[in-house]
Amino acid sequence: MIQRYRYGNPFPTEATVEQIAISEGTLPFFETDGKGGFSYSLKEDDIVYGLGEQVRGINKRGWHYVSWNFDNPHHQEDTLSLYGAHNFLIVHGEVTFGVFFDYAGKLEFDIGYTRRSLMRVRAQKNDLDVYLITGENEKEIVRRFRHLIGRSYIPPFWAFGYGQSRWGYKNEADIREVVSEYQKAGIPLDSVYMDIDYMENYKDFTVDAGRFPNLGDLVSELSRQGVHLVPIIDAGVKIEEGYEVYEEGVKNNHFCKNAAGEDFVGAVWPGRVHFPDFLNPKAREWFGEKYSVLTKLGIDGFWNDMNEPAIFYTEDRFADTLTKLEELSTKNVGINEYFAFTGMVAGLNGNAGDYEKFYHNVNGKPVKHSEVHNLYGMNMTRAAYEALRKLAPHKRTLFFSRSSYIGAHRYGGIWQGDNKSWWSHILQSMQQLPALNMAGFLFVGCDVGGFGSDTTEDLMIRWLQYSLFTPLFRNHSSNGTRRQELYCFENIKALGDMIQIRYSLIPYLYSEFLKAVYEDSMMFRPLAFDFPEDKLAASVEDQLFLGDELIIAPIYQQNAVGRYVYLPEEMMLVRMRRYNDYDTEVLPKGHHYVSSKLSELVFFLRKGRAIPMVAPALNTSLLTSEITTMLGYPEGTYSLYEEKLQ
Ligand code: GLC
Repeated sequence: MIQRYRYGNPFPTEATVEQIAISEGTLPFFETDGKGGFSYSLKEDDIVYGLGEQVRGINKRGWHYVSWNFDNPHHQEDTLSLYGAHNFLIVHGEVTFGVFFDYAGKLEFDIGYTRRSLMRVRAQKNDLDVYLITGENEKEIVRRFRHLIGRSYIPPFWAFGYGQSRWGYKNEADIREVVSEYQKAGIPLDSVYMDIDYMENYKDFTVDAGRFPNLGDLVSELSRQGVHLVPIIDAGVKIEEGYEVYEEGVKNNHFCKNAAGEDFVGAVWPGRVHFPDFLNPKAREWFGEKYSVLTKLGIDGFWNDMNEPAIFYTEDRFADTLTKLEELSTKNVGINEYFAFTGMVAGLNGNAGDYEKFYHNVNGKPVKHSEVHNLYGMNMTRAAYEALRKLAPHKRTLFFSRSSYIGAHRYGGIWQGDNKSWWSHILQSMQQLPALNMAGFLFVGCDVGGFGSDTTEDLMIRWLQYSLFTPLFRNHSSNGTRRQELYCFENIKALGDMIQIRYSLIPYLYSEFLKAVYEDSMMFRPLAFDFPEDKLAASVEDQLFLGDELIIAPIYQQNAVGRYVYLPEEMMLVRMRRYNDYDTEVLPKGHHYVSSKLSELVFFLRKGRAIPMVAPALNTSLLTSEITTMLGYPEGTYSLYEEKLQ
């Protein structure tokens, strides 16, 4: 059952698609203070699942979190906000229920942080809808919630292939080199990503003619080799006379305004920019149509970035900071001045005050950005999705976004934002997967190998062994870090073998993905969702169910030669070196130490189950659907969902 409770006058977020009447009664289980605060008494054994893209464990209890979409490439355990706002929780305990706080502004969750026995949720204003979802168990609660928020986005089949990305491919030759090195190494590849350097001075929907003299030809040349080019689009539009997108946006009032009614100015990669007003349907339609500049050249995939929106600085704050710094320079600089100095400079990027300074046009009325902040990224991807559905209704286009709110899962996937080449970020990505699936985000994945800082070969291979199970499978790294294309390492073969295993599993993974879409279920689940009575399963933080067949238990520690796993029932251990070279061993329920050499992928098959594998190919268009192996228990069968719409 779903009940909806209304407080004040909420902004329509469009997170939900099902109409639920507003309940007259009071919200069960919670105490409400009438000022946007909601409290729930936690029992000692209660577990709290959810919050989508957030830090810390699968069980969110014991920390506090803030839903405020934020660009934080250095996130770690004490980070409060990441790139997405996914305000859906399931409390598991004596009473088990789901709760969705549908609120577009800043929302704080204190889940046993201030007091271990108390969960407190606070919206900045008492203007929100709260949905309470009850059901027989967690899976049923998720199904109901997902039905409420609408069907998840399905990408084209090729998007399940492996992608290579790096901020730093500057020209056609760089892209060709990536493709040819992968070919030489015999490693499958379906896509190469184009980061901001393909544009002319970081201007959306332009292509630098010097460095990419004929993008259309390059797209066709690579497409003949089975490789798709996927360009980035950023939220901010460069302010530059003569630049069509800028001029049209100004003329037609498509940009967000400042308090004086002028186009608001922020600074991101292109320098001074205006931000399209994605909350305004007209601006959405206008911006969405611009994607056709690239689809006309044969492009069929995009990643939407910087759409929290990230703001490096605003001019007035920058000027103000300079003045204060000058004042400081006339003083005797002591420790207080030093900290004031570093604080002011660091505080320019993503400064909360800047989000108070601009407005959206909602049905002719100005709405302050900070009140609807978390909806911005979702509406950017919606703009692209809706426009392309009109332009090419029978074609699937790849979209994924950095920033999102619940509802964005209908328009595209997400990647988990800027991470680091840290072992802990393998685990962090994995712990987010079930919470993201709960919130509808099924086409998800992280920057494989880590975006910031330098990766190593062992980190990369262990990372591949985790990420080869995630729908989005893209190696991406930052400018200035060590190169991490797989052909750059010493043991290219072992890395390539992991990619081949991915390709052998694609029919299975795509099938599990489609099932999760059509059945409103979760592709990745905490162990406890399937074994609710098992107290040991409830505390497992580093293993997940994948579909109804597998448990994945990646290695995320440097120099580990194995790991402990907990099996909630008898399972078959698979230790795989190549797609056609593996051992299996049946293990009883319980704790086990499982060894795994660096080049060995380890996972587990459920009792009585088997999964299909095909021969790998150099890209998804060459994959045949001929099943070469049924991996698992001899009696196991599997029903394959197929739907290869390109
Ligand atoms: C942002 C993105 C990252 C991209 C970079 C340059 O940090 O999150 O993926 O490479 O911008 O465009």
